[in-house]
Amino acid sequence: MSPAAAPLFRAPPRPAPPDTGVMSPARSPLWHPAQWRWPLPALAAWLLAWAVCSTGVALREPVAGLLAGLVVSALAALLVQGPWRRLLVAAGFPASALALGASSALPGWWWLLPLGPLLLAYPLRAWRDAPFFPTPASALQGLAGVVGQPARVLEAGCGAGHGLAALRQEFPRAELVGLEWSPLLALAARLRRRDARVRRGDLWAEPWGGYGLVYLFQRPESMARAWAKARAEMPGGWLASLEFAVPGVAATARLPGADGRPLWLYHVPGAPQ
Ligand SMILES: C[S@@+](CC[C@H](N)C(=O)[O-])C[C@H]1O[C@@H](n2cnc3c(N)ncnc32)[C@H](O)[C@@H]1O
Repeated sequence: MSPAAAPLFRAPPRPAPPDTGVMSPARSPLWHPAQWRWPLPALAAWLLAWAVCSTGVALREPVAGLLAGLVVSALAALLVQGPWRRLLVAAGFPASALALGASSALPGWWWLLPLGPLLLAYPLRAWRDAPFFPTPASALQGLAGVVGQPARVLEAGCGAGHGLAALRQEFPRAELVGLEWSPLLALAARLRRRDARVRRGDLWAEPWGGYGLVYLFQRPESMARAWAKARAEMPGGWLASLEFAVPGVAATARLPGADGRPLWLYHVPGAPQ
């Protein structure tokens, strides 16, 4: 089919394709931007942001309108795939507002407003534990070959759901749970991964008992604490960490991972409880 004749909405393929880490058309509903052909998601996001902002201006609340437009842009950006598309979706509204001279109607400090949505998307605690880097789609390949098929798998700090997608490829039948501190990222993960239970919460406060595997992609400084928690709460289970090893502990296995980031696997001593 030529690109000009391509339909705007893709029909769900049969049979369902293997999970690629991207929300699959078979799983996402028709209204979801993952179903729309580019650049429809960007156009829809910009229009919606402008509609919300214009409502604020009409109600004589231009600052609230602008803030709401920025929140809409940030949320929409979390629903599309790929860093460049995300940037385009997120930046389209503020850039066009600047270009159209909307800033002259606003107080001088308006440019500080994006800080609000940024902090909502990425609270300070999340910055301290790990900045936002998603798990590459192929990073967990071979994981099931080492740890088997645990019934319950936790992703501690699941971001926008990329790690959950990679986990699903390895564990097609497992109960997947994602924990995420950022409310916006937790919402995005919930929307993208209907096959997982995603909760907003602190990965350090949540008990890890009952999970056969805990996967994380955090920071080097977090790894000793993660290992201590795994030893205390999930004997007999597995801890998997992308890129960062537990200092001073010999890994049970090391898989190639992706993009030069190895996947470190640790079998926690003790019998499962
Ligand atoms: C490097 S990102 C990885 C995201 C996701 N695991 C993935 O691989 O696609 C780390 C994530 O952990 C989250 N995070 C950091 N500290 C956290 C905490 N204490 N509790 C829950 N989530 C946390 C961050 O908000 C961020 O989304």
